[in-house]
Amino acid sequence: MYQEYIDFIIPLAKKVGELQLSYFRTDRLGIETKSNISDVVTRADKESEELIANALFGKYPNHKILGEEGGFRGNEDSEYLWVVDPLDGTTNFSQGIPIFSISIALQYKGETIAGVVYAPYLDELFVATKGGGAYMAYHGGESKRIQVSRKERLDSSVIATGFPYDKSTNTDNNTQEASRVVPLVRDLRRLGSAAYDLSCVATGILDGYWEMSLKIWDVCAGILIVEEARGQVCYYRDDRSLSVIAGNELIVKHIKEIIAPDRD
Ligand code: IPD
Ligand code: CA
Ligand code: CA
Repeated sequence: MYQEYIDFIIPLAKKVGELQLSYFRTDRLGIETKSNISDVVTRADKESEELIANALFGKYPNHKILGEEGGFRGNEDSEYLWVVDPLDGTTNFSQGIPIFSISIALQYKGETIAGVVYAPYLDELFVATKGGGAYMAYHGGESKRIQVSRKERLDSSVIATGFPYDKSTNTDNNTQEASRVVPLVRDLRRLGSAAYDLSCVATGILDGYWEMSLKIWDVCAGILIVEEARGQVCYYRDDRSLSVIAGNELIVKHIKEIIAPDRD
């Protein structure tokens, strides 16, 4: 079920990846700032979203799209919504750090039914469909079913997080939570692409992840991939946009006890 969508998204994501790699580590990035000096966008972000939008509307002219760069487009009455982050990890991309990804999800009547995350430099592909499990393929190899880590304790766990773009003007910026977590885990990572962080949780490469103030395009595909990999995603606060903890059930519980002990 939903395989039709996956068969369409995978080659599209790979084509977008080729476009991004043609700009990566060149002097043609065209870097601009958005909400503040930490929030950057490049030519590759914008061209990637156009490529995705044109391909989606070419194939599904009656659907609608929500993309980070272009906002809502298409048939506003459609029950199908494509949620697109054309380049997740732009700070990494703009610096030449190879962790960045393309995130494309499809929602039907508000429920995510398909999700693909592709990290082009690493050539790692993560795919899930609702009820159909989660899979990873890398370096052109065969696709294998994935599952979240089985670790039960934080002291042997490697956990990732991230920090919001308004971190310099709002002291509620995850630094206090991170400083409480650091002594209790094997180590903490800030990989710089929320979609890739979630995909790594789905494979067990990371044992857990949390981040506040995310946008739907950062996490829509990644959340489905984690859930279909037998993981759990918990929304730990509702006052700062999307704020999520991901991992297996126990790891999510442990992280929540540290970063949000008083929240339900
Ligand atoms: C960002 C990345 C980053 C996360 C930020 C996101 P962008 O997305 O996912 O890891 O910490 O909150 O906005 O701006 O590179 O698409
Ligand atoms: Ca993003
Ligand atoms: Ca982006």
